[in-house]
Amino acid sequence: MPKIAVIPGDGIGPEVMREALRVLDVIAQKNSISLEFEELPLGAAHYLETGEVLSDETIERLEEKDAVLLGALGDPRVKPGVLEKGILLRLRFHFDQFVNLRPVLLYDGIPSALAGDMRDISMRFVRENTEDFYVGLGGRVSQGASRSELVLKRKAYEAKFDIGIDLTGDEELAYQIGVITRQGARRVLDYAFTLAKAKGIGLVTSVDKANVLTEMYGLWREEVADASTRHGIASEFQYVDAVALHMIKNPKRFKLLVTPNLFGDILTDLGAALQGGLGFAPSGNINPEGVSMFEPVHGSAPDIAGLGLANPVGAILSSALMLDTLGHGKAAAWIESAVQEVLRGGEHKTPDIGGTTSTSQMGDAIVETLNQTSP
Ligand code: NAD
Ligand code: IPM
Ligand code: MN
Repeated sequence: MPKIAVIPGDGIGPEVMREALRVLDVIAQKNSISLEFEELPLGAAHYLETGEVLSDETIERLEEKDAVLLGALGDPRVKPGVLEKGILLRLRFHFDQFVNLRPVLLYDGIPSALAGDMRDISMRFVRENTEDFYVGLGGRVSQGASRSELVLKRKAYEAKFDIGIDLTGDEELAYQIGVITRQGARRVLDYAFTLAKAKGIGLVTSVDKANVLTEMYGLWREEVADASTRHGIASEFQYVDAVALHMIKNPKRFKLLVTPNLFGDILTDLGAALQGGLGFAPSGNINPEGVSMFEPVHGSAPDIAGLGLANPVGAILSSALMLDTLGHGKAAAWIESAVQEVLRGGEHKTPDIGGTTSTSQMGDAIVETLNQTSP
């Protein structure tokens, strides 16, 4: 029996999670999959009450699970990064969830941010999820800085770039370093090319900024070329700025994009706009051999929290992605069809796409459709 940890989290997290769990309940009943849930009260409320972000003991509990379902984290009362890095990123790193799979699919009945006939939007992002600028290496250097920091300062200075910053002076500076390892690039690229083959996609687009960040993305490119040859699937290199342009001008040219961590974060919010908005975008933090974690792409949306305005579709589709990863592909496809049917009908529209359907009414509609259909 799959054991699932549920972290509703902050803001609209608990609201969208409630609907995802209702959907999973129907699936479990009708498809006789037994799922065991344990809810963990992590997030701003727990932190403000206890001072604890995420204990080792909680991590140990999570280690016993088959998957984690997460709503969203982040709260205006808490300094940026405390919950996001302390919970979300810590879990992604701890469980070595090196793939962040983010499908960008525009379903019938949903308006895209793009006008007119550009509805052929069907791309998948495979975002590297444990390296790049997310590794957490960095600091601030001021007078009396530690020795290693001074070495860094000196190296940057010796590069003799005219960068207009006085690296030798006493003025404080902050730096943060990105890291790409060969092994880290190779494993996510292997995942991406394997997925391309499974989906019948003949071209993988690699996203980078190898014209400026030549060290990191030079190495990345070597591994892309190697993976392309090993898997026998064509690849292309695109700079991230150009990808942003093409996603708007000609989105159908992209089918599978593999990106370093930070660019993948940014481009998948852009992708969410193409698929109708953040409320429609699901994602999976995947370790193919370990505990994976599924969450909508959106955050805690404090601006609409508690008002019943949140679109739960991204969270519901994330739970489908979870079932798929746990080996219940049929049940996952069933959820996706039910969501598509409801959206195609046009009767149920959440406020993010100009409708008046509330979070729970959207859940009702999807549950009802599931009750009337079978896998
Ligand atoms: P956000 O994704 O929370 O919201 C951006 C905009 O999209 C807001 O206007 C919001 O109302 C809207 N939106 C988001 N989800 C929606 C939904 N399901 N239905 C309808 N509208 C929706 O991003 P933000 O405002 O930049 O960040 C808010 C907080 O969330 C911050 O603390 C941030 O760090 C955190 N965050 C967390 C995650 C996560 O937990 N995975 C992801 C992104 C941001
Ligand atoms: C996301 C979020 C996170 C990220 C933040 C909240 C740490 O933006 O899941 O897209 O940058 O990965
Ligand atoms: Mn993001």
